[in-house]
Amino acid sequence: MSTSRIPFLDVPAAYAELQEELDAAARSVMASGQYILGPEVTAFEEEFAAYCGARHAIGVASGLDALRLILLGYDVGPGDEVIVPSNTFIATWLAVSQTGGTPVPVEPDPETHNITATAVEAAITPSTKAIMPVHLYGQPADMTALAALGRERGIPVIEDAAQAQGARYQGRRAGALADAAGFSFYPGKNLGALGDAGAVTTDDDALAERIRLLRNYGSKVKYHHDVLGLNSRLDSLQAAFLRIKLRHLDDWNDRRRAAAARYVERLAGVDELTLPAVPEWADPVWHLFVIRHPRRDELQARLGEAGVDTIIHYPIPPHLATAYAAAFDGAHLPIAERLADEVLSLPMGPHLPLADADAVADAVRTAVHALNAGAAA
Ligand SMILES: Cc1ncc(COP(=O)(O)O)c(C=O)c1O
Repeated sequence: MSTSRIPFLDVPAAYAELQEELDAAARSVMASGQYILGPEVTAFEEEFAAYCGARHAIGVASGLDALRLILLGYDVGPGDEVIVPSNTFIATWLAVSQTGGTPVPVEPDPETHNITATAVEAAITPSTKAIMPVHLYGQPADMTALAALGRERGIPVIEDAAQAQGARYQGRRAGALADAAGFSFYPGKNLGALGDAGAVTTDDDALAERIRLLRNYGSKVKYHHDVLGLNSRLDSLQAAFLRIKLRHLDDWNDRRRAAAARYVERLAGVDELTLPAVPEWADPVWHLFVIRHPRRDELQARLGEAGVDTIIHYPIPPHLATAYAAAFDGAHLPIAERLADEVLSLPMGPHLPLADADAVADAVRTAVHALNAGAAA
């Protein structure tokens, strides 16, 4: 057992690197008296839209709200179906359920962990109101095919880009690959706030206008309420922090890429271990580096003993969550269920020293060899 552990993600290190700038921004916002929306939010919206290559960005309270507001913007409600991956974080499904609509799960390609246009097409019914692919773990889904399918059928395609700030698909960034996209700036995300925050991006002027209303009590002019809105506004403090961190996003994503390259280099060819598959169209940002092993729980335990912290994303697919027990009772989604049993996320982040990435990879090799030897004995 090593004396110092390698954490899964070093969140305080992100603050430490930018402390002076972040502290100064906080002081300036606090002195301004403008704490919700306002000039910092507007500036962040402009900068984030430009970064993604989208016409509009709308700052909201969280990633879940970003997705929910897009669906409300498209009038999704009771009786409507929205196609979602079977193997995503539950928020993708909750966004649909909270509009009164029904999430319709589609199984992913087990290689890329993302849903494909072929699988989505088979799940379309006359009630399908939207298609919501997820760029899982920071790797874009095959968006040309998905966007073309949506256009053909007249169904909006919404990117769940919560894990994919800065990821590119055929050179274009997540957030500008379909009709609209929802981002999360949860602190552990590649672009993380110092609290909850999110954004919608879109090129659609009318949708943007509607989401601006919906996030603010349905109001454009104070005390004039045009639609039944929510309170889901971005705080000025978070916007000020995000503006600073956005300037470092490409550099920090490059650092994640360097760590991922170390993992790939050191873990290639290990028996029984599946590494992430990166299709030629994708330039992922490695929100997570997810390996697979048939004896995942034992592997995780051995890594823990070796001082390496890992996490499972996600141990229970949404259809098996208690929250969906009534709606999906008896549903069997074998790919999602197998992935939930086999996936393991290794330490990853812009502050993971490459020497630690090497140490993690060595620990994984050792643990997998020991497990394989045990199985053969
Ligand atoms: C794929 C996915 N969708 C949606 C969300 C929801 O984002 P938030 O936590 O900001 O509500 C998250 C992150 O938590 C996520 O990983």
